[in-house]
Amino acid sequence: MHTVNDALEHCAQALDAAGVCFGHGCDNAWDEAVQLVLTAMKLPIDADESVLPLPVSPTQRQQLEDWLIQRIEERVPLPYIIGRAWFAGLELRCDDRAIVPRSPLGELILGDYQPWYEGPPPRRILDLCCGGGAIGLAAAHYAPECSVDLLDLDPAALALARENRDLLGLQARTECLESDLFSAVVGRRYDIILSNPPYVDARDLASMPAEYHREPALALGSGSDGLDITRRILAEAAHYLNPRGLLVVEVGNSWEALEAAYPGVPFTWVEFVEGGHGVFVLSAAELHQYREQLQR
Ligand SMILES: C[S@@+](CC[C@H](N)C(=O)[O-])C[C@H]1O[C@@H](n2cnc3c(N)ncnc32)[C@H](O)[C@@H]1O
Repeated sequence: MHTVNDALEHCAQALDAAGVCFGHGCDNAWDEAVQLVLTAMKLPIDADESVLPLPVSPTQRQQLEDWLIQRIEERVPLPYIIGRAWFAGLELRCDDRAIVPRSPLGELILGDYQPWYEGPPPRRILDLCCGGGAIGLAAAHYAPECSVDLLDLDPAALALARENRDLLGLQARTECLESDLFSAVVGRRYDIILSNPPYVDARDLASMPAEYHREPALALGSGSDGLDITRRILAEAAHYLNPRGLLVVEVGNSWEALEAAYPGVPFTWVEFVEGGHGVFVLSAAELHQYREQLQR
C-alpha cells in the first residue's frame, strides 16, 4: 500500500474477499474502498484520478488496516467507521447513535415532492422518526422558506440530529424534539409529513446481515409484521396536516403487509429513479376520507 492506487486495490480486494454486506450507502467494494482511502488520506470525496499516485504514509496505512478490521471482522457499517455519510448531496456526521441514512425519500425532497404535493408552497414540514436528521435537514436545506420539526423518541439519535443541524447551519429554521411520534407537537399543522419509521418485520429482522445489528434496535423493528409504528402514524397523521397537506411514509418490504392490512385504502406507491421501494403517499383529503379504516 504505497500509493492511493495501491490502497484502493488492497481495500477493495479485502472487502470483496470477506463477503461483507453492502447495504449502507454503497453497493460494491470499490465504492467503499474509495470512501475509506480518501477519508484516511484527508482528500476530498470527489477527488479525481490525479490523486492515484500520491504516497500513503505509515500512519495512514495503519489507519486503513485498523478500519478494515472493524469493517471485516466486526462488520461495522462503513459510514460508522469513517464517521460520515452523504444524503441528498449533503455530508452528515454519522455514528451508531442513529441508523445510517439511506432512505429513498431524498429523491422526493430533491424533486420538490412533485407530482405528489399539490398544496400551496410548503412552509412547515415534519420529519417524524428523524434519527440523525438526514431527511428533515435535507428538506430544510433545499426549501429555504420552510421551517422543519424533527422528532425522535431516542435522545441519542436526536443529539446526532442536532449536531448535523449545527454543521449545516440550519438552527434558525429547524427544531429537534424528543417525542413519541406526534406527542411533542400536538396542535401543530404541517404541509408535508415525511417519515422513515422503524418498519422491519420480525422475519426480516432475524435474517438481517450482521452489519444491520450494529444499528440501534429501536430504529429497525416494528412488531411482527413491521407495521406497529406505521399503524399509529396512519391513525393520527390527519390531525397534523393542513387541508392540502401530504403524508409520505417509507415501509420498505412491509408494503405488502400494509396493503393487506388496509385493503380499502388507496395507497399511492412512489417509483424512484435512483432505487428504493416501499414508500407511499396519502393526501390529507385521503386520510380524512378513509379515517375509519385507518383507526386500527
Ligand atoms: C428507520 S430509523 C430512520 C431514521 C431517519 N429518518 C433516517 O432515515 O435516517 C427510525 C427512527 O425512528 C425512531 N423511533 C422509533 N420509535 C419511535 C417513536 N415511537 N416515536 C418517535 N421516533 C421513534 C428511532 O429512534 C429511529 O431513529
